[in-house]
Amino acid sequence: MPANYDNSAPFYDRLSKIIFGNALISAQVYLLGFIPANSSIIIIGGGTGWILREIARVHPSGLKITYVEVSSKMTALAKQMYVASNEVIFINQPIENVQMENVFDVVITPFLFDNFTEKTLTSVFAHTHSLLKKNGLWLCTDFQTTGKIWQSVLLKSMYLFFKIICQIETLHMPNIGCQFEVHNYKKLTAKTFFGKFIISTQYQKALN
Ligand SMILES: C[S@@+](CC[C@H](N)C(=O)[O-])C[C@H]1O[C@@H](n2cnc3c(N)ncnc32)[C@H](O)[C@@H]1O
Repeated sequence: MPANYDNSAPFYDRLSKIIFGNALISAQVYLLGFIPANSSIIIIGGGTGWILREIARVHPSGLKITYVEVSSKMTALAKQMYVASNEVIFINQPIENVQMENVFDVVITPFLFDNFTEKTLTSVFAHTHSLLKKNGLWLCTDFQTTGKIWQSVLLKSMYLFFKIICQIETLHMPNIGCQFEVHNYKKLTAKTFFGKFIISTQYQKALN
């Protein structure tokens, strides 16, 4: 049962700015520079869709974007975003329901996997992996803990909040990096933000 972010859609962006300032945005924008011109992209769990506006700043045209978002309220907000001349298809479904194979040059998962138990992560990851072309890029941004107490306290508070408001299925971070290793991805670049609490990584799918 996917989380229901409908309840947080009206205030999600404002709340994240109050807590993180521009860090959540900077972390995702950092990865947008790696998107090749004229590529086909799938964004999973993009929330209110501001990322579409930021992508349009980097590539005002030529992109074919599939925007998959399970929350109907988030999807409705995303549909209003400025996308310049890029082509965007909105799919208001959980990613698990999207059936295509090896069609995308780029996968973007911004703060998606932290919502999942280890079990859901394993199956959603494998499914998403099948959507990406060989040699394709996977741009992933998410939280990590590096042993600092404030990170654990903040992470726990966020999990409790989103458990109550959005019924997310877990209270713990699953091991995201491990999935990229299991599926033989090459780490091309990575950058941390907000005292290393956020990490943005560019991965590449293997050829075989
Ligand atoms: C933590 S929010 C992040 C939103 C956005 N990426 C941002 O950084 O502002 C996670 C988003 O993933 C969506 N989501 C969760 N599970 C999903 C699934 N299985 N398929 C598609 N979207 C999902 C939620 O509805 C929510 O909008």
